Amino acid sequence: MKIKPNSNLLMNSRLFAVGVVTLALTGPAMAVDPSPRERVLFNDGWRFQKEDAKAAGDALNYHKNKAVAEAVIASASDAGLTPAQRELGRDHPFVQAGFADQSWRKLSLPHDWAIEGPFDQKLPGETGKLPWMGIGWYRKTFTLPAADAGRQISLEIDGAMSYSMVWCNGQFVGGWPYGYSSFRLDLTPYLKPGAENVLVVRLDNPDGSSRWYPGGGIYRNVWLVKTAPVHVAHWGTYVTTPEVSATAAKVDVKITLQNQSSAPANVTVATAAFLREANGRLADVPAFSFKPSDLVIEPGKTASLNSSATVENPRLWSLATPALYTAVTTVTQNGKVVDRYETPFGIRSIQFTADRGFLLNGQRVQFQGVCNHHDLGALGAAFNVRAAERQLEIMKEMGVNALRTSHNMPAPELLDLCDRMGILVMDESFDCWKHGKKGGDYGQLWDDWHEKDLRALIRRDINHPSVVMWSIGNEVREAGDKDKGPAIAAHLTAIAHDEEPTRPTVIGSNSKDASYNGVQKAVDVMGQNYQYGGYAKFKTENPTIPLVGSETSSCVSSRGEYFFQTPEMYAAVVEETIKGWAANGKTAPPAKPFSPVSEDKAQGKSDFQVSSYDLYGPGWSWIPDNEFKSQEMNPHVLGEFVWTGFDYLGEPTPYNSDTTNLLNFHDAAGKAEMERQLKELGKIKVPSRSSYFGIVDLAGFKKDRFYLYQARWRPDFPMAHILPHWNWPERVGLVTPVHVYTSGDEAELFLNGKSLGRKKKDQYQYRLRWDDVVYQPGELKVVAYKNGKEWAQEVMKTTGPAAKIMLSADRPKIEADGYDLSFVTAAVADKDGQLVPRSKNNIQFEVSGPGEIVAVDNGDATSFEPFQASQRSAYNGLALVIVRAKIGESGSFSLTAKSDGLASATITIEASAHSDAK
Ligand code: GAL
Repeated sequence: MKIKPNSNLLMNSRLFAVGVVTLALTGPAMAVDPSPRERVLFNDGWRFQKEDAKAAGDALNYHKNKAVAEAVIASASDAGLTPAQRELGRDHPFVQAGFADQSWRKLSLPHDWAIEGPFDQKLPGETGKLPWMGIGWYRKTFTLPAADAGRQISLEIDGAMSYSMVWCNGQFVGGWPYGYSSFRLDLTPYLKPGAENVLVVRLDNPDGSSRWYPGGGIYRNVWLVKTAPVHVAHWGTYVTTPEVSATAAKVDVKITLQNQSSAPANVTVATAAFLREANGRLADVPAFSFKPSDLVIEPGKTASLNSSATVENPRLWSLATPALYTAVTTVTQNGKVVDRYETPFGIRSIQFTADRGFLLNGQRVQFQGVCNHHDLGALGAAFNVRAAERQLEIMKEMGVNALRTSHNMPAPELLDLCDRMGILVMDESFDCWKHGKKGGDYGQLWDDWHEKDLRALIRRDINHPSVVMWSIGNEVREAGDKDKGPAIAAHLTAIAHDEEPTRPTVIGSNSKDASYNGVQKAVDVMGQNYQYGGYAKFKTENPTIPLVGSETSSCVSSRGEYFFQTPEMYAAVVEETIKGWAANGKTAPPAKPFSPVSEDKAQGKSDFQVSSYDLYGPGWSWIPDNEFKSQEMNPHVLGEFVWTGFDYLGEPTPYNSDTTNLLNFHDAAGKAEMERQLKELGKIKVPSRSSYFGIVDLAGFKKDRFYLYQARWRPDFPMAHILPHWNWPERVGLVTPVHVYTSGDEAELFLNGKSLGRKKKDQYQYRLRWDDVVYQPGELKVVAYKNGKEWAQEVMKTTGPAAKIMLSADRPKIEADGYDLSFVTAAVADKDGQLVPRSKNNIQFEVSGPGEIVAVDNGDATSFEPFQASQRSAYNGLALVIVRAKIGESGSFSLTAKSDGLASATITIEASAHSDAK
């Protein structure tokens, strides 16, 4: 019998164990023994408690008890723990195997304790006004089968926020402080096969350790990995494709094996590569194989081998067709298969040039990238494959082809998604080096951990074809220092190259000096944050160094909000500006003529929201249009990564009273102005708790800016978008500017059938503006043209009063595996089904059948309504409800949405029992 290896890499499922398989390795079916490797998802059956035991004091505090730091560091080193270190924390009641934890809350991972809230006005807006700080404990009791005796068993934690410490059966095993790193601990010496075992995890989130919402808890997957004593080492394979063409490719593989037995091991290692088919499964027959090698591994040691293969007519990994292979490595000892290990990879070439851009398989690809933080909105930091996939789908619809994992290592499954969806990744490590940005941040860990963390990132992510750059840091304070900056950058680049030389290092730097003080030479690609005016100068002075806009724009807006100024308001702003310049001994430039829509990027603010004309941002920001122009004028630039694709929890600039805002300024005047604004903000109670930077809001609803980027990034996709909405009863007879984003080059605007003129984009013009439209209710229509031919149309109508709710699901069919989600949009509509743009109706949701509500949201950055609820006010006409099927219960369930005075709506979601193929 021939069975394919279990190859579902993007499983939403709880059934992750790599089961017993028989594998066709080469040519004719060749039956081999089952692999003893199992990788079991270990997410269920945990108990949780927030807070420490009474009177625990600082005994387990990493920074206050030296013995803790020493033990955690030892656990992550080859040396391992001393017998005394294994006793660490044994007096703490929660650590003890017999502790009665039945009163603790029962839950499944991934879990973010802070997203449950409540929002608290007293907590800092920069980290989302949510209670992520403090100590949390997890315990899991489980029986290990007696048959596991003699196997190597380790625990893999993909991410836990933060300062993880792990005990097994009352003994300390180890930990890892950086909350974004993935790590593995060997449990073998501590476990009791055939008996009950207890795992305990303690986490600690110090105040001042983040400048955005980090979440709290074991927020990514946890795995139990069981192998034979001789096995492929942790992250032990490295596949590269040194020669790639359409007709042939050379594929190299390096495999590291570990012998944890007490005798030398003679093994044969064979690797075959299978193409991953469209249905997500591996092909029956290998596409190519590597020549098997024999190897001796001494007891307690590791040993590596290298092998090469040539592939005819390879299926290349590209953005349009991201073909994936899986290398299946089989380790045979004494005629018995002792391990089978799968390594997904892609065949592709990458090249970074200083003047021809970034080349993927020899073709230039401009980075149309976004930066995103790791939270998933209403789900918090708790990782969910479907939620991440939805984010990427929305980004791709806009034309995104690249993602920067700002400012830390992502969940591993996010990279699986990027591999599968054809998205390039700048994989980032740190937001600071030794010189931190907040008192309690990574700066404190730098000396002991930066090398371990950077190596862990690279080893884990090394085989993802989507990953094309290793970012060694974001806006690190040392970058502007001509001594420390180049020295640390060179040190990190050396570590990265030591791990693997095929990808460049990059830095995201807001320090202008870093482009000239030697940092630019210490990395392989220079990344400039917010320096669109400096691209040409960089090329003149650094003609051989590739340059990317690693962080751009930082425009801010609130979905569906448009603010108009009066002549009096404008006069006051002009007066303020004149005074500001005078205070610096300068004369203000002449004021622009009055327009109801301010052109001043510091304006556009009201009610803790920001106007959506896409003209506003903090002092260091600029509108997307300026970046587009600069990229066009400087074709040597590899592209850009916009801040940000999605809104995220925390950092609600321009209503962020956090002083880390000052870090963005290098000019005294900008800094002084920001200081003034921060002081002003300090005097008021700011409710804002999530960002305004997103092109898409926190709930995943598109802001107008989405269409500005889509128009630019998908020039062949016919589209036109009108803003603002057209419900302005208070503006009848008043000038109400209308802007149009289109992938066409020309457009004509009509109000109630009357042409308001046809306009053509000038060179370097990215939006068409009719700034003198006098509002009257009715219908706005735009007809866009490209090369003289009609290209796209869009209509915006004044709506009637809110009459009904309309529901639409992103996916009407989901799996009942406990992870898969459907994102349902509730729209408040008039009787004709048009979205009523300013409606705020409270909507109640009810599920009947085997489904449940996971979270709700509406994208309002100021809302204190809880995410875990069965009701939500619409924000500018929209609310989101995220539902899932009850685990294992297939069949349909329905979701009903009701609101006073509106006709209710019901939608049916079909849930199927889990299947492997996705
Ligand atoms: C950058 C920083 C980002 C974010 C952004 C907001 O300077 O790298 O993390 O703070 O500013 O504009």
